[in-house]
Amino acid sequence: MKAVILAGGKGKRMHSDLPKVLFEINGQSLIAHVVQNAREAGIDDIAVVTGYKGDMVREALGEGISYYRQAEQLGTADALKSARDFFAHEDPPVIVLCGDAPLVDSDSILQLASYYEKHSLDMCVLTATLEDPANYGRILRDGKNFERIVESRDANEEQLAIKEINSGTMIFNSGKLAQVLDEIKNDNAQGEYYLTDAVEIFKAKGFKTGALCIANADIVLGANDRYDLSLCEKAMRKSINRALMLGGVRMIDPDTTYIDRNVRIGAGSVIYPNTIINGKSCIGENNTVISSRLTDCVIGDDNTVDNSVLEQCRIGSETSIGPYSHIRRDTVLASKTKVGSFAETKNADIGEGTKVPHLSYVGDATVGERCNFGCGSVVANYDGENKYHTNIGNDVFIGCNVNMIAPIDIRDGAFIAAGSTVSKNIEKDAFIIERAKPVQLDKALLKKKK
Ligand code: UD1
Ligand code: MG
Repeated sequence: MKAVILAGGKGKRMHSDLPKVLFEINGQSLIAHVVQNAREAGIDDIAVVTGYKGDMVREALGEGISYYRQAEQLGTADALKSARDFFAHEDPPVIVLCGDAPLVDSDSILQLASYYEKHSLDMCVLTATLEDPANYGRILRDGKNFERIVESRDANEEQLAIKEINSGTMIFNSGKLAQVLDEIKNDNAQGEYYLTDAVEIFKAKGFKTGALCIANADIVLGANDRYDLSLCEKAMRKSINRALMLGGVRMIDPDTTYIDRNVRIGAGSVIYPNTIINGKSCIGENNTVISSRLTDCVIGDDNTVDNSVLEQCRIGSETSIGPYSHIRRDTVLASKTKVGSFAETKNADIGEGTKVPHLSYVGDATVGERCNFGCGSVVANYDGENKYHTNIGNDVFIGCNVNMIAPIDIRDGAFIAAGSTVSKNIEKDAFIIERAKPVQLDKALLKKKK
């Protein structure tokens, strides 16, 4: 099977200069979802028809796809004509997918293909029954027999009452489709060449047509405007969360848990409400994530993340993060570490067993094992112009409110007393204390001053 994805339209109803198919839901663009669906159905040979800002669409999707350009957006049949070279001379059937229908998943694609094969059809359309059929094309049947599709703009009252609609996903005998495309006319309300009109021409030629009505109506949702977009996003979220839960993830409230499509979470992990996990995050087993945001994070097992924000970081196992911590890009936390409450790290490689428990900042640093950062201790990595690196060995004790002025090396076993500001390298096992001598005066002096 080959697939052609139609993505030439601007998407006027989005009120945006961004091509509609590049709007993102659940972690990637609409069209990236459609490509992924086709690939998950085992289709490797994929063409995308671009038009409005085609270069942008092409750049977003990258290599491994054949691109065809529709010069002017004259309708879905015209879009398909632009890709004629892709399917005209070939034997395998071609499946046509809409770039704005991200929920037509691999299961539905395969169901459509096997129905088409089983009934030896020449074309078959995937349909669904919707309570509110809105602006979708209506499926006209005579009894059970599929007759044709009428676009909502061209439909009469009686036809508008029909609840079975065209998903926009169709499968065709490639050669026959190529033959028929040129016969499609544009004498309709929009003056466009509708692919849906192919049905009648197929019938007139004695080719076999069919319509498969799919039980899960959610999958046909197309993102035509921003409200539709939110409906698509919600429907996909539901299916992402469901799949994760069936795989052993506990979700306290799936309605307020936002996880991107390509995130992985291991069994036994518990996700509390108001958690967002996005990008390419990969979360291991038995983690507890409470009301946090995690973006592109790779996390091992048995960790706790509480009310924190984690971005582009790698976390080992049995760590504790938060409450209220910010683990920023390029942080690596080894196993059994602790960061927070109220701590921030950035580009910091922190060794096993090290604790940064309260109100600290560790940036641009390599930290060894079993160190302890006292409350309020800070790695001062920035002098207003440049950033510098700090190295801290193993078993270093850093007292409260210590400032470590980078660049600096603090060697194994050093002990820095509370309140010290250190800017020179510290030797192994050294004890550093830096305190101004307190001046003790009579409190009465204060009153005199006033
Ligand atoms: C289309 C169907 C409608 C179906 C609905 C399902 C037609 C005529 N109508 O309507 O029956 O119920 O999808 O979502 O096919 N495109 C191009 N070039 C063009 C026009 C469109 O590439 O000249 C692309 C769009 O980028 C989009 C897809 O084709 O990805 C569908 O076009 P759209 O304008 O969204 O059609 P609908 O009105 O949704
Ligand atoms: Mg559409």
